[in-house]
Amino acid sequence: MYNIAVMPGDGTGPEVIREGLKVLDAACAKFGVKYKKIHYDLGGERYKRTGEILPDSVLAELKGMDAIYLGAVGHPDVKPGILEKGLLLKLRFSLQQYINLRPVKLFPGVWTPIKDKGPAEINFVVVRENNEGLYVGEGEFIDKDKPTEVAVQVSRNSRRGIDKCLKYAFEYAKTKGREKKLTLVGKTNVLTYAFDLWERAFYAMAKSYPEVKTDYAHVDATCMWMIKNPEWFDVIVTDNMFGDIITDLGAMIQGGMGIAAGGNINPEGVSMFEPIGGSAPKYTGKNVINPLAAICAGGMMMAELGETKINEAIEKAVMDVTANKLKSLSAGKMGYSTTEVGDLVVKAL
Ligand code: IPM
Ligand code: MN
Repeated sequence: MYNIAVMPGDGTGPEVIREGLKVLDAACAKFGVKYKKIHYDLGGERYKRTGEILPDSVLAELKGMDAIYLGAVGHPDVKPGILEKGLLLKLRFSLQQYINLRPVKLFPGVWTPIKDKGPAEINFVVVRENNEGLYVGEGEFIDKDKPTEVAVQVSRNSRRGIDKCLKYAFEYAKTKGREKKLTLVGKTNVLTYAFDLWERAFYAMAKSYPEVKTDYAHVDATCMWMIKNPEWFDVIVTDNMFGDIITDLGAMIQGGMGIAAGGNINPEGVSMFEPIGGSAPKYTGKNVINPLAAICAGGMMMAELGETKINEAIEKAVMDVTANKLKSLSAGKMGYSTTEVGDLVVKAL
């Protein structure tokens, strides 16, 4: 029996999480796995009502869960940064979810903007460091509001943090990589402190993984190769900021935000799974948003809990739906409503 914290959050979050839970219920019933949903009302509405973002008591409870299933964070009436930092990033940091795992996989029948590339070519994962880099929130304003003002934003990269992330990435490449190939993505030609350390740590660890092929690419060139030759990538490991950027690009080549799922993983603790798109306020309440990303995130959550068969079954069902049913993955153009897409996946399952 797993205890799953369910946090639908803002905007279309509740709509996609509802379909995700529908699919999880069906998949768990099929495989005889039981789980309990513990609902948490957090996000923009709660903040507007009570001023609370993530109460300490809630954080303490979350530490006792088996996993967290998150919808979306971001509200049009709340200044950008408040909920993102106070809720999403605070959870990632406090629960030491030091990996952000983001598969970039083109499912059958899904349209990609890249001509001549299909599911055989677009199939890699990004292992994004999730606790450090530019996201630590360190910095200062010097001479604030004066013409001489300078803003400093620190990227903090610890050897311990890098090593934990690299170990996950090497293990992933070794056990799950298509070609057992790991590419470090950085910017060693300019960021000569941060990526010098990443590079030294990367090649030092590579010695313990002789079966893993290693490669390095600058982040700008990576954006180019992801479009031109996505098949060159198997597993990518990179820092927090670059990982953030290239996974939006990744989401687009795999068919859009409607299908892109991710996991904030603490391999020794509580992990959190989410569709990587935002709260999409303009589609809220219309029953038109694509729930497949949330459904796939639910599958990833089950895999992390050790229920790999459930994840495989969900992925297969989703592929069946993308290959045979949906006209498009875009909101409002799927040929089905949000609820109907959930039903189709359950039927395929
Ligand atoms: C993501 C998002 C977040 C990030 C924002 C909402 C803080 O863009 O999960 O990629 O930058 O990590
Ligand atoms: Mn992002």
